[in-house]
Amino acid sequence: MSKLKNKVAVITGANSGIGLATAKLFLKEGAKVVISGRRQEALNEVKETLEGDFITVLADVSKAEDNTKLIKEATDRFGNIDILFLNAGIAPIAPTETIDEHHYNDVFNTNVKGPILATKEALPHLNDGGTILFTGSIVNQKAFDGFGVYSASKGALRAYSKVLTSEVKSRGIRVNTIAPGPIDTPIYGKMGLPEDVLEETGNGFAAMVPLGRFGTSEEIAKTALFLASDDASYINGVELEIDGGMSQI
Ligand SMILES: NC(=O)c1ccc[n+]([C@@H]2O[C@H](COP(=O)([O-])OP(=O)(O)OC[C@H]3O[C@@H](n4cnc5c(N)ncnc54)[C@H](OP(=O)(O)O)[C@@H]3O)[C@@H](O)[C@H]2O)c1
Repeated sequence: MSKLKNKVAVITGANSGIGLATAKLFLKEGAKVVISGRRQEALNEVKETLEGDFITVLADVSKAEDNTKLIKEATDRFGNIDILFLNAGIAPIAPTETIDEHHYNDVFNTNVKGPILATKEALPHLNDGGTILFTGSIVNQKAFDGFGVYSASKGALRAYSKVLTSEVKSRGIRVNTIAPGPIDTPIYGKMGLPEDVLEETGNGFAAMVPLGRFGTSEEIAKTALFLASDDASYINGVELEIDGGMSQI
């Protein structure tokens, strides 16, 4: 099956976790993929392992000029874009009494400013009938101590996606958000938690999931494929929880 034959997809945060699994699946389904990340060495490693029609673009989504560069390199190589998957994100932990300006700016610049500016840059090059996907989180629905700024950032993205859904309606562009629950990716190792606390936190998350486990990046990638493909042609403006039921109980 080639559900994305000749479609052009741009994916941010695609050197790791959910973004990488999605890039692999999109390539398998016939898409031309722009794999973006902020570390050249990680992109080089990815280049070695993937097959198909893709390029890698070094871009730090928290910087305005890098979003411009990302879309320019993508369109220079492949022409107009069909699928824009704004997935890059960070989730450093900081209980409210420890939040500082650096933490706030880091999280909001990456998780909110980045996707919004990339969308702005991409819109003139996005085909009518194309699709924009954001990676949100179920933190929009459930409270987890220490994730205050992260949760606020994903809430902001959710609000933005609603407005965008309306703004692009005359062009038939669908805008949807994937809201993962706990997914086994490298993000947990980047939260700044000691190993034992990380393990305890992970076990705690898994216990809150009706299915009793973390999800996999591949399970999210399959959802991204569904939402990006014609199979989801009448799905627009939703935030879809992929969380083993965690947000529902
Ligand atoms: N895993 C979960 O449980 C979970 C749950 C809910 C939502 N999410 C969301 O899912 C998305 C993907 O996360 P993941 O779990 O797959 O984690 P991940 O493996 O750490 O992937 C995140 C990707 O985003 C990249 N990134 C971070 N800051 C960036 C920046 N300023 N510019 C460009 N790229 C940047 C990372 O690059 P580096 O490799 O250089 O760090 C990495 O490639 C995030 O938006 C996250 O908030 C994850």
